Amino acid sequence: MQNRTFIVTGTSKGIGMQLAQLLLEQGDRVYGISRGTAELLHGNDLYFHFQYDLSDLMGIEQLVKKILEQIPLEETEFLGLINNAAMLEPLKPIDQCSTEEISMNLNISLAAPMILSSSFIRQTNHLTARRKIVNLTSGSGSYPAPSMAAYCTSKAGMNMFSECVAMELAERLNPVEVIAFDPGMVDTELQAVARGKSTGEFELSGLFNQVYEAGQLKSPREVAKRLIERIEENSDTSKVVHTMES
Ligand SMILES: NC(=O)c1ccc[n+]([C@@H]2O[C@H](COP(=O)([O-])OP(=O)(O)OC[C@H]3O[C@@H](n4cnc5c(N)ncnc54)[C@H](OP(=O)(O)O)[C@@H]3O)[C@@H](O)[C@H]2O)c1
Repeated sequence: MQNRTFIVTGTSKGIGMQLAQLLLEQGDRVYGISRGTAELLHGNDLYFHFQYDLSDLMGIEQLVKKILEQIPLEETEFLGLINNAAMLEPLKPIDQCSTEEISMNLNISLAAPMILSSSFIRQTNHLTARRKIVNLTSGSGSYPAPSMAAYCTSKAGMNMFSECVAMELAERLNPVEVIAFDPGMVDTELQAVARGKSTGEFELSGLFNQVYEAGQLKSPREVAKRLIERIEENSDTSKVVHTMES
């Protein structure tokens, strides 16, 4: 079996936690990043947790260096970066959002994955291992919605960022594969945040509640399985693959 290592952001809960769990079950090594701990993953010899707030953009290059120093790179045949962590809020019209709320969303959901990708590519360019970046995106990156401007803009940015980087890398020797993965609507805390708002506060909360009550949310485990299938596929490095999971 291939010796694989993954750096996954947002492993304390939701899709990131399930993804880490499944990768560990397959014998892969996982370096997880989140502000909180990843209780369910601790105790596994192949799991290494980095408690870090990704809104601290200036420390990311150093964080990637620290993680890479711990990975047995000479044995690693496949090295992945999964940019999964993101935040949904603020969920309100843009004129009600504070500077702090807008910049926090864009920093965590867009700037941090861009800097992680940049650092990851730069610091691993000397390796011969297969490398792949997966950027978690959303239908919100293609479909505008009221009171979701920050999230929709971050996800539209993730799509464009993935396309630009795939273009840049296509002509390189041992290029990094880049895909954008849209998981569809998944039963995680992110959904609970949207459902938990009153319709007065966030007009689309009714829609999020309807989808939940109709049992239409996917399980994080099912989505993580699909994500691993996409990771394992050989991606055409000349273009970004937008995987839309309906
Ligand atoms: N759930 C859905 O329906 C859905 C739909 C489309 C796309 N997606 C995308 O799928 C991805 C995962 O979503 P999810 O539903 O699993 O979300 P979630 O349950 O809210 O989990 C988000 C993860 O990101 C981490 N995170 C948030 N802010 C962070 C920060 N400042 N620094 C470090 N880590 C941070 C959280 O850890 P800490 O809080 O411990 O820091 C947590 O582990 C996101 O990119 C999301 O946009 C989700």
